[in-house]
Amino acid sequence: MMRDFSNGTAVVTGAASGMGLAFAERFAAEGMNVVLADIETDALRAAVLRLEQQERNVVGIEVNTMRRESVESLRDQAIDRFGNIHVLCNNAGVVSSEDGGSRDLWEIPDSTWDWVLGVNFYGVLYGIQAFLPHMIEHGEPGHVVNTSSVGGIIAGSGAYSVSKHGVLSLSEGLYLDLRSIDSSISASVLCPGLVNTNLLNAERNRPDHFGGPAQPTQEDYAAEMGLHAAMDPGNVASQVWDAIVNDTFYILPHPGFDEMVKDRVDRILSRGAPAPLDFEDLARRREAGELV
Ligand SMILES: NC(=O)c1ccc[n+]([C@@H]2O[C@H](COP(=O)([O-])OP(=O)(O)OC[C@H]3O[C@@H](n4cnc5c(N)ncnc54)[C@H](O)[C@@H]3O)[C@@H](O)[C@H]2O)c1
Repeated sequence: MMRDFSNGTAVVTGAASGMGLAFAERFAAEGMNVVLADIETDALRAAVLRLEQQERNVVGIEVNTMRRESVESLRDQAIDRFGNIHVLCNNAGVVSSEDGGSRDLWEIPDSTWDWVLGVNFYGVLYGIQAFLPHMIEHGEPGHVVNTSSVGGIIAGSGAYSVSKHGVLSLSEGLYLDLRSIDSSISASVLCPGLVNTNLLNAERNRPDHFGGPAQPTQEDYAAEMGLHAAMDPGNVASQVWDAIVNDTFYILPHPGFDEMVKDRVDRILSRGAPAPLDFEDLARRREAGELV
């Protein structure tokens, strides 16, 4: 049975850009009140203004999901504004130009581990810790969507991969724990392949005390990864909305990555070893339109 959240309230982190913005647009178009939360205040203001001009019920709240007290303050402000929260998307995330892929594991700076795990993993954990007691207590149906990645299922190297594997595990645990108490809240984990967003320019939001935004992500890296020709965030938002109303746990918008996921499981079950990412094959398949 489809669940109806159209009169409810959603909170989306990382909502000033990319997928988070697409989720906010979709939820608002479905009639929900939407709290857009982000660390990048100018982009947040512009996004909220645009949605207000379309007469959507939205509010923008600045948050740094790396900080527990900031996420708790987001919860309090969201409840003050709209009342009970029904949908929570722990979506804010970053990649670093100093991470695995460009460096060997033992050469990644501590500031990069702290920043990437701080936003991608702890941000999701703080979201769960801050919002779940409220969502469980109000007793109305609800749903949590955590943004992991295909990189959270296949073998990879570096802080991004570790953080996204962590989000997958956290989400599975959340789902099972909610089921074990027969809660009216459920959960999903989103594991996209490549999506056309500003993610590869994430260094723009690295705080000074985590090494600062010293190294903007190179344009050629963005081009190499083919993000600009990747899946439209609105397409991902549709799949997320469907998963929320139909209560589907694993959201894998890119079937083109299924073989890589299967290969990883096969390698584990054959007591073998991990395979390196084949960037040439990925580029070829992207050109052939197999990854969108
Ligand atoms: N784009 C892809 O190909 C892809 C693939 C798999 C997973 N993801 C994941 O999707 C999520 C959304 O990223 P996107 O691709 O839309 O990128 P994006 O850069 O367009 O959007 C991410 C948003 O998160 C915000 N943010 C960064 N640090 C924050 C912090 N400390 N507190 C609050 N907000 C913060 C940014 O300001 C930005 O608005 C991320 O978790 C990312 O890891 C992206």
